[in-house]
Amino acid sequence: MKPSPTQLAALVAPIESELEAMRATIVEQLSDGSGAVSDMTGHVARFRGKQLRGSLVLLVARALGRQNDELPAVAAVVEMIHLATLVHDDILDGAKVRRRVASVNQRWDNQVAVLLGDFLYARAFALSTQLSDRMCSSLLAETTRRLCVGEIEQSTRRYDFDQAPEKVERIAAAKTASLYAAAAELGARYPDGSEEEAQEMARFGHELGLAFQLVDDCLDLVGNEETVGKSIGTDVADGKVTLPVLTVYRKATPEVRARIRDAYTLPELEDRVTHLAAACDLQPGIDATLARAAELADSARARLSTLPESAARQALDDLCGFVLARSF
Ligand code: FPP
Ligand code: MG
Repeated sequence: MKPSPTQLAALVAPIESELEAMRATIVEQLSDGSGAVSDMTGHVARFRGKQLRGSLVLLVARALGRQNDELPAVAAVVEMIHLATLVHDDILDGAKVRRRVASVNQRWDNQVAVLLGDFLYARAFALSTQLSDRMCSSLLAETTRRLCVGEIEQSTRRYDFDQAPEKVERIAAAKTASLYAAAAELGARYPDGSEEEAQEMARFGHELGLAFQLVDDCLDLVGNEETVGKSIGTDVADGKVTLPVLTVYRKATPEVRARIRDAYTLPELEDRVTHLAAACDLQPGIDATLARAAELADSARARLSTLPESAARQALDDLCGFVLARSF
């Protein structure tokens, strides 16, 4: 059975009070004297989402028995950067819905969404510079660089069916797994954790995040917009050749390949995913991509085996299952 939002809430129960502190920090950071900005930050606060990345900071710290009063603020910085990237991503994808409400570009317009994403990013970095250790700022600056490079590479490879599957996976890792890796690493490292644990948790976050993105790529093709809570079909509409599609394409006959390319490129097609699904059988690509995601989640789970048994370790283990089985 698919996990529900209630089950996700139960999963983060061990860190509920720190999560509340993280949420309060985000609200405080997003308030602004400008009525227009307050309207917009109020709107994005409505799309709070799963907060998996902030939870990861706090769960990893707890599982390693690490305590620090600044960790909820570190988690808030991670979540605010994530929020900024979503606001910008929805412009790039022309997405209309995010977390069940109108995306910022849809509710206002692209100009406003570019500026609001910048505002959120600026607030995140202002908060990180108030922390007693610079490590959070420097790690997340490097992470944002990698994430932007991933997005740029993805944009330049639109409609490219000749790219290698390994490259597509590396792009997914850069744009998504990098922030998961940073979140888990910060939980283990901030401000003075062991180097070995920090690196192992970064690997855990990387695998978890990549599994998340591969499932996301499948949901973009076969998910239900109501359940997923965001616009789907945007990858095909925007020319993004994701792993499930590339897998099918590489095994297809020349005729089917041509039909797949047509679904992406013929002008004025209304619903490109429906055309794509009519052009080929997407299921083997979905199955192979979900199998790869399961392999990554298993590998992530195995990295938890050296941690002492605790509710937080169990929650991290459950997260590995959650990213695979999620439908939202
Ligand atoms: C989701 O991809 C996209 C990301 C996780 C990263 C987006 C990052 C940027 C646009 C760079 C922005 C940079 C700054 C500094 C704000 P997706 O479209 O596959 O996922 P979705 O289905 O959730 O839209
Ligand atoms: Mg998107």
